[in-house]
Amino acid sequence: MNLLELIKTRRTIRKFKQEPINNDILIDIIDCARLAPSASNKQPLEYIVVTNKNLCENIFQNLRWAAYIHPNGTPKDYEKPVCYIAVLINKNRLTKWTGIDAGLAVENLILAAWAYNIGSCILGSVNKNNVKIILNIPDEYELDTIIALGYPAQQSIAEDNDNTVEYYLDENGNMYVPKRPLNKIIHFDSF
Ligand SMILES: Cc1cc2nc3c(=O)[nH]c(=O)nc-3n(C[C@H](O)[C@H](O)[C@H](O)COP(=O)(O)O)c2cc1C
Repeated sequence: MNLLELIKTRRTIRKFKQEPINNDILIDIIDCARLAPSASNKQPLEYIVVTNKNLCENIFQNLRWAAYIHPNGTPKDYEKPVCYIAVLINKNRLTKWTGIDAGLAVENLILAAWAYNIGSCILGSVNKNNVKIILNIPDEYELDTIIALGYPAQQSIAEDNDNTVEYYLDENGNMYVPKRPLNKIIHFDSF
């Protein structure tokens, strides 16, 4: 897949095969996040990779999946992520653009994962206090998001639709994600 196809076909995945991800791949994915643009080049982001089964289960208990289709978007035991990456912000390296830094790094991360055929879900709905304890995250770090990873066990398809923002599942467990049509969001020369 070339880069444009990769960007256009990446969708959030919430059902995963129970197949481990090679450590070198996980490291390479984080290398791609590491090289993202960063305001003033402060590079405030650090990462914890979690593959240990007990830790993964503890983290799972502190996440909220797919609010629009709850509880049907929550992975069953045989569909759970095989890896989580906790995205941390070093508070000693903050700028007013730190949120953008995080977004850019996370996008690099999930696209790199997709380049390896690995599906991902960004999780912002996280019980951060609990996860900070589970992962021993020091006080000078903020927990930004958790990225769930694994080889996909569902398909997710983008559909042009400006009438709703709510994704839905079909009877086979595949996901359909409305995206605003190009002609509704693009303006040439003036608004
Ligand atoms: C900042 C951020 C936080 C998100 N938090 C959650 C979450 O807590 N739980 C979840 O199931 N999905 C979460 N998502 C995934 C979105 O629901 C998903 O990106 C959106 O529905 C669009 O689907 P797509 O990624 O396939 O294009 C989050 C995405 C972003 C960018």
